[in-house]
Amino acid sequence: MDPRSIAPTSLGVRAAAAVAGGLRSRWADATAANPDHSRWYVERFRALAASGADLVGEARLVDAMAPRGATILDAGCGPGRHAGHLHRAGHTVVGVDLDPILLEAAEADDPGPTYVVGDLAAVELPAEGPQRFDLILCAGNVLTFLHPGTRRPVLARFAGWLAEGGRAVVGFGLARGYAQADFEADAAAAGLAVEQRWSTWDLRPFSASSEFLVAVLTASAPATAPAGADAG
Ligand SMILES: C[S@@+](CC[C@H](N)C(=O)[O-])C[C@H]1O[C@@H](n2cnc3c(N)ncnc32)[C@H](O)[C@@H]1O
Repeated sequence: MDPRSIAPTSLGVRAAAAVAGGLRSRWADATAANPDHSRWYVERFRALAASGADLVGEARLVDAMAPRGATILDAGCGPGRHAGHLHRAGHTVVGVDLDPILLEAAEADDPGPTYVVGDLAAVELPAEGPQRFDLILCAGNVLTFLHPGTRRPVLARFAGWLAEGGRAVVGFGLARGYAQADFEADAAAAGLAVEQRWSTWDLRPFSASSEFLVAVLTASAPATAPAGADAG
């Protein structure tokens, strides 16, 4: 199967192969090692939601940054907590994730966005939906789960997916194998400029001792049409 091909499923989720150029995501490694991992993750967040935990701080930040009725890509959307919140706020939301079990949960718990199964390094967005986005949200350590060989291609796709004046907001723990300097070098090579750095999703200042990075990225070069990653 062409890894970029997509086909509708009965859930309305679009299915695609989850490996980009043979470079498998660390999330896919984890689910291969433990077939219960995805369902455990879904139930963990369902339990947190049932307990009243605040699970959408990342989405609230992006909503505050967005014009009303914006186009928003939730990159690595998982079970849809952010995508669903942003949809209910009136935005046109596309959620991409490589884990079909998480997207089944997203369709069940947070319907409304267009959910697409695929690797961020290779996925094609549905032709009938937005191809450019005012905001891209990449929360929940997604960048640290990418195969390191796809980090730069995925960031380049973010650059290509941004609408004029659009911004990408990414957040990840700095002790998870992706150093700030490496991330910023990858972002620059991918055509993204770091406009702001924060240490939390509620915008606490970033410092040299921060353990978490929330970076706001803009396109530093003219946007080009997104291309599939040449990750092989
Ligand atoms: C810890 S979860 C975070 C999910 C969601 N962003 C959130 O904050 O709730 C990490 C997610 O990254 C996704 N992911 C990892 N590598 C990916 C890739 N190469 N392409 C698409 N999604 C990926 C996983 O499937 C998983 O849903």
